[in-house]
Amino acid sequence: MSEKYLDETWQNSMKVKFDYNNMLQQFFSNGEGITLDDIKKIEPQIKNAIYQMKIKREEGKMDWRDLPYNQENIVKDIEEYVLKVKDNFEAFVVFGIGGSALGPLSVQQAINHPFYNELSRQQRNNFPKFYVVDNIDPEKLVYLFDTIDITKTLFNVISKSGSTSETMSQFMIIKEMLEKKLGKDIAKNHIVCTTDKENGNLIKIAKEENYKTFIIPDGVGGRFSELTPVGLLPAAFTGIDIKQMLKGASFMDKICENEDIFKNPAFMYAILNYIAYKKGKNICVLMPYADRLKFISDWYAQLWAESLGKKFDLDNKEIYVGMTPVKSLGVTDQHSQVQLYTEGPFDKVIVFMTVENYKETLEIPKIYQDIPSLGFLGGITQNKLIQTEQMATEYALLKSGKMNMTITLPEVNEFTLGEILYLFEVSTGFAGELLHIDAFNQPGVEEGKNATYAMFGRPGYENKKQELDSRPKKDEKFII
Ligand code: PA5
Repeated sequence: MSEKYLDETWQNSMKVKFDYNNMLQQFFSNGEGITLDDIKKIEPQIKNAIYQMKIKREEGKMDWRDLPYNQENIVKDIEEYVLKVKDNFEAFVVFGIGGSALGPLSVQQAINHPFYNELSRQQRNNFPKFYVVDNIDPEKLVYLFDTIDITKTLFNVISKSGSTSETMSQFMIIKEMLEKKLGKDIAKNHIVCTTDKENGNLIKIAKEENYKTFIIPDGVGGRFSELTPVGLLPAAFTGIDIKQMLKGASFMDKICENEDIFKNPAFMYAILNYIAYKKGKNICVLMPYADRLKFISDWYAQLWAESLGKKFDLDNKEIYVGMTPVKSLGVTDQHSQVQLYTEGPFDKVIVFMTVENYKETLEIPKIYQDIPSLGFLGGITQNKLIQTEQMATEYALLKSGKMNMTITLPEVNEFTLGEILYLFEVSTGFAGELLHIDAFNQPGVEEGKNATYAMFGRPGYENKKQELDSRPKKDEKFII
């Protein structure tokens, strides 16, 4: 692998840019937008958030921030393991959900060929095909088994808690299938676990049944775990340069350490979203102009929603906060959602993600020159077209008084992806501080989980079952 990413000049040329001009009131004629005075007004909150970010990191309460630096041995172990076993497998399947699936999926989609699985093995640089199954829809799994040969597949079971029903049910299904086909001794080589070092069922099973296991470091929760073996192992299995990804994250970390908010894109991103939220913009749209980045929006939506949507603040006061993230794709959604963004209510902030240099350049042929409405396209590139359409959409939003900002990647590669992941993570942590909430828990997810356990009569959930059984019965007359 090329190590040009170690070169400082190259790193600086890959710096992700954050343009927030179109969030500022001076660019709007309808009174929308944010003033420097608005920022000044929340200075004490900002100062406190900066302090909390610093102190929590020092106290080991934000261990995910150190991931770019402390995983040398893990990376070595991953690379050795991948090298040792990859030729034995035609396919690599991730079983996981939420933070244990969206990172692996979005990174693979961002870096690799969009039709990766359709390529020949040689075109895939001898790496296996790649699948992520992050749902328990029975059709998906059955049809996957129709598609792959499980005897030539490695299954990566990822669960921090080691007890998530969705993931564990997938594990139970595949374990039995593999053992029936291959026998216990060989079957175990087809399963690799990624989990906590001591908590949960998965680590116990992995130890007892002797599965190769990678450990998710302490203090790193699901949606902040992409830069642990959760994301690094699947990435390495498709040939992604994980060291470069971590380098990109550490590069962004240096930038995010700046306490001057006007020089810190992560802090400023959170501050602007926070002020906009206070001004009634409770929807945050992420709209990348690159198919590769489509699933980054999925990853981001989970990070932003699960971290910031909270009922209680840190003083246990009911506050019901959160900005609803919306996934959108440029230019595709210009022909669906943008009508709403432009002319609909003033309740959104649109975040564009743009790419300066796409991996490919595609010129539109100079034909139909006698038809002016087509002729203008001839001779320009699709690269220019997609970039121009983004600028035009940005202008249309601005003109109709809708706040927007743009994050630009010089190109999409492992380094810039590391930057983006890290930037959004720090920003989410900072937004959590501004909102005075715990951005790292997810109590709202628990209720649904517990109700499921109760419905299945899981021991320990008898009271929940009683509570459920006493809920008002549905009235048939309202089912038509
Ligand atoms: O961000 C989170 O904590 C969640 O989305 C989890 O990643 C998700 O619920 C899966 O949990 P686990 O990895 O414990 O199976």
